[in-house]
Amino acid sequence: MSFGEFAVLQDISLSVGAGEIVGVLGPNGAGKTTYMNILTGALRPTTGTVHLLGEDVTKLDTAQRCHRGLAQTHQIPKPFSGMTVFENVLVAVNHGRSAPAHDPISVAWTVLEDTGLAHVANRPAETLGLLDRKRLELSRALGTNPKVLLLDEIGGGLTDAEGDALVDLIRSIHASGVTIVWVEHIMRLLLEGCSRLVCMAEGEVLADGDPHTVVNSQQVQVAYFGASA
Ligand SMILES: Nc1ncnc2c1ncn2[C@@H]1O[C@H](COP(=O)(O)OP(=O)(O)OP(=O)(O)O)[C@@H](O)[C@H]1O
Ligand SMILES: [Mg+2]
Repeated sequence: MSFGEFAVLQDISLSVGAGEIVGVLGPNGAGKTTYMNILTGALRPTTGTVHLLGEDVTKLDTAQRCHRGLAQTHQIPKPFSGMTVFENVLVAVNHGRSAPAHDPISVAWTVLEDTGLAHVANRPAETLGLLDRKRLELSRALGTNPKVLLLDEIGGGLTDAEGDALVDLIRSIHASGVTIVWVEHIMRLLLEGCSRLVCMAEGEVLADGDPHTVVNSQQVQVAYFGASA
């Protein structure tokens, strides 16, 4: 991916199997969000292809990829302001699925129960605190009934206890059969939540594999933790 003369991603390739939960870490500006945006279709890659569930979706837009089972949470939560928490999820249920849900209202309600937001269902979305805004991002993604979920720095700014609650929720989503790719700076959350870790730096994959092995590798210690080479 290049922006004008500036190549942000170079020859990057990542393959995620059904049922995996993969963490992605890398320094600021490594290209993580750009990569996620290419996967969802928010950005078109300069060259290269994106495959989802075995199908080449490079030419499909974000809505079409969403209907095929790909959902995303954003680094900066983007609820529809002026709508309640419940209405935000209902929009996802009604518009993010390939086939309409039989009973959208009970589907949206079940999502909010699963994510712990049922008690604030009628609050305006913009009045939520940080953890609940992140839960709402997840709820809106889950409302679309995803097979693959991309999380972009959902753990930032939380207390340790809130981070633990978030890991529990993400693990339960994964246990329900959703494949997850999780970009995060908070190492502890990735080590607790993921079975595979990828480290990106300067638009390339530096290391990929068992989380503790990746974290302890010399390349990652230098590129991400600032150890001397
Ligand atoms: N639309 C754009 N036009 C030009 N450059 C861009 C654009 N979007 C991103 N970049 C640049 O691409 C690089 C990668 O940005 P990106 O946001 O993907 O990094 P990141 O790994 O998500 O960083 P962070 O950890 O801070 O979220 C940065 O140098 C950024 O300034
Ligand atoms: Mg980013």
